[in-house]
Amino acid sequence: MIDWQTPFEQVLDDSKLPFARWFVGGKTNLCHNAVDRHLKDRPDQKALVYLSTETGKEGSYTFRELHAEVNRVAAMIQDLGVAKGDRVIIYMPMVPEAVIAMLACARIGAVHSVVFGGFAANSLATRIDDAKPRLMITADAGMRGGKQINYKPLVDEALSLSKHPPEKVLLFNRGLDRDMAVQAGRDMDWETLRARHMDARVEPVWLESSEPSYILYTSGTTGKPKGVQRDTGGYAVALAASMKHIYTGQAGETMFTSSDIGWVVGHSYIVYGPLLAGMTTIVYEGLPIRPDPGIWWKIVQDNQVNIMFTSPTAVRVLKKQPPEFLHKYDVSSLRSLYLAGEPLDEPTARWIAEALQVNIIDNYWQTETGWPILSSVPAVEDLPRKFGSPGFAAYGFDIKLLDERSGEEVAVNEKGVLTAVPPLPPGCLSTVWGDDTRFVNTYFSNFENVLVYSTFDWATKDEDGYYFILGRTDDVINVAGHRLGTREIEEAVSAHPNIAEVAVVGVHDEVKGQAVIAFAVVKDASKVATSEAMAQMQKEVMATVDKELGAIARPARVCFVTLLPKTRSGKLLRRSIQALAEGREAGDLTTLDDPTALEQIKAAVAAWKSGK
Ligand code: PRX
Repeated sequence: MIDWQTPFEQVLDDSKLPFARWFVGGKTNLCHNAVDRHLKDRPDQKALVYLSTETGKEGSYTFRELHAEVNRVAAMIQDLGVAKGDRVIIYMPMVPEAVIAMLACARIGAVHSVVFGGFAANSLATRIDDAKPRLMITADAGMRGGKQINYKPLVDEALSLSKHPPEKVLLFNRGLDRDMAVQAGRDMDWETLRARHMDARVEPVWLESSEPSYILYTSGTTGKPKGVQRDTGGYAVALAASMKHIYTGQAGETMFTSSDIGWVVGHSYIVYGPLLAGMTTIVYEGLPIRPDPGIWWKIVQDNQVNIMFTSPTAVRVLKKQPPEFLHKYDVSSLRSLYLAGEPLDEPTARWIAEALQVNIIDNYWQTETGWPILSSVPAVEDLPRKFGSPGFAAYGFDIKLLDERSGEEVAVNEKGVLTAVPPLPPGCLSTVWGDDTRFVNTYFSNFENVLVYSTFDWATKDEDGYYFILGRTDDVINVAGHRLGTREIEEAVSAHPNIAEVAVVGVHDEVKGQAVIAFAVVKDASKVATSEAMAQMQKEVMATVDKELGAIARPARVCFVTLLPKTRSGKLLRRSIQALAEGREAGDLTTLDDPTALEQIKAAVAAWKSGK
């Protein structure tokens, strides 16, 4: 399924668990497998179709054209000093050049780290400091819902905040930001460099299977995002296999994944997965409801899409729209719709299954694993699906549901922590970038008596063996399928000068799965003395989060209190706050320090619910 330049000598080295090395000694290259390998059989097939309902631009690249373009960009970044093992941060909107930049890095063995374009300067700076990139690739601006977001000022700010700024910035100018400032000597224009390398040919750099292909930052319980490090050979094999067995994509077919290249779903199923499989992939910049809620189905019709992948939130958004848009287009090419990133509730699954008359496949996984942990595996055995369940463990994952305290396996239908016995299968994270200790401590040290990988998700398994995901065991919030750390958001809120302390929780939301709610203590109470003042303060806090972290983490509501519920030893009772915010009982309060703190949370929630 993939080409090896040098065959591997050993399938698995598990001598240093929980570290595992797959296909030891084998040499391969992701870009070669995604692009060059198809030049023989399908050079003139479309490899990448792009369209933007934000700018109106659209077009496509055949595998031959993609190959030529990737070679040009590989030569450009080599010219800028990038070599094997160097990191390159890609901070780009959903334009084809972003995918080409990723493939160009992979081609020369550089380690890309794509940062989602919705992250603010501070978040970008944190990632720059951790990855220490040689180069940053960016664009003048992105667009969302008709609104332009200028990237370059954010990049400039991030670079000035950073302790390890790259020497060069490769700037793809879309012509959106006419006032863009350019720093001579540092900022290099994409088109100008491209013109110098039109006929470039850059041989792929063959990497040993375990050498890193990319870093992708993700949130956890601490304020510092973790750099999930992916290998090369294991990832290529895992993705190629998942395309065949789970996503049932055939070479020559078309896949449309509506994520963003800044997320793991984008890495695996916009870029590498479909291209490895010889499929056409669709790169879409735009919302599912603009210019109207039929846009996705138009894309399916126009491109004869066979396999589609999106998030439950997007489907819930579409469910609220007039139904005629679903029937306006011919979607008969579509076989299956895959949904992941957050729990897929039964009514949503049922609605879209009936509306589209296709297979609906809920698949559960994480940035860390790179491909599904739990899923139907229809090309191997197409077992009946139960709505609300992502099915069974995918091949390669030895899943155990463990009791949080004892580490023993729980009984049927009992709630346990979803864990996997190492070695993790190919494609999963090989370590945390630059921090092996953190890899072991974060993921493999949650149970005293057993060495297991913890997903930090609660789950049950029913009598028929179907798993059900119940939510996170840690303080991670999942808004519209985006993973956000409470600690990160709290740090962002605290950047407002009048905030003394804050607790952030995820509260059930009908469309987005969860919404971010902040309970904040202000330093100067006069600033929240009237409802107008409170509204003003709320606005300011939201703007602070936008600036510090990015609008995706903006709290839907900021409630002001004078005290937060804590244990006598000073630990925030976040689970109790969340329970109250969701209208449930606060739970075990034996360690609560001051009961009036809970009364305040209750009152704040009541005021919020009554629309005050
Ligand atoms: O809590 C689980 C939830 O999303 C988390 C992983 O998010 P991320 O790293 O962004 O990777 C998304 C890859 C699809 C998980 O720990 N999650 C993901 N898929 C599902 C899910 N929860 C329920 N059902 C799912 N299918």
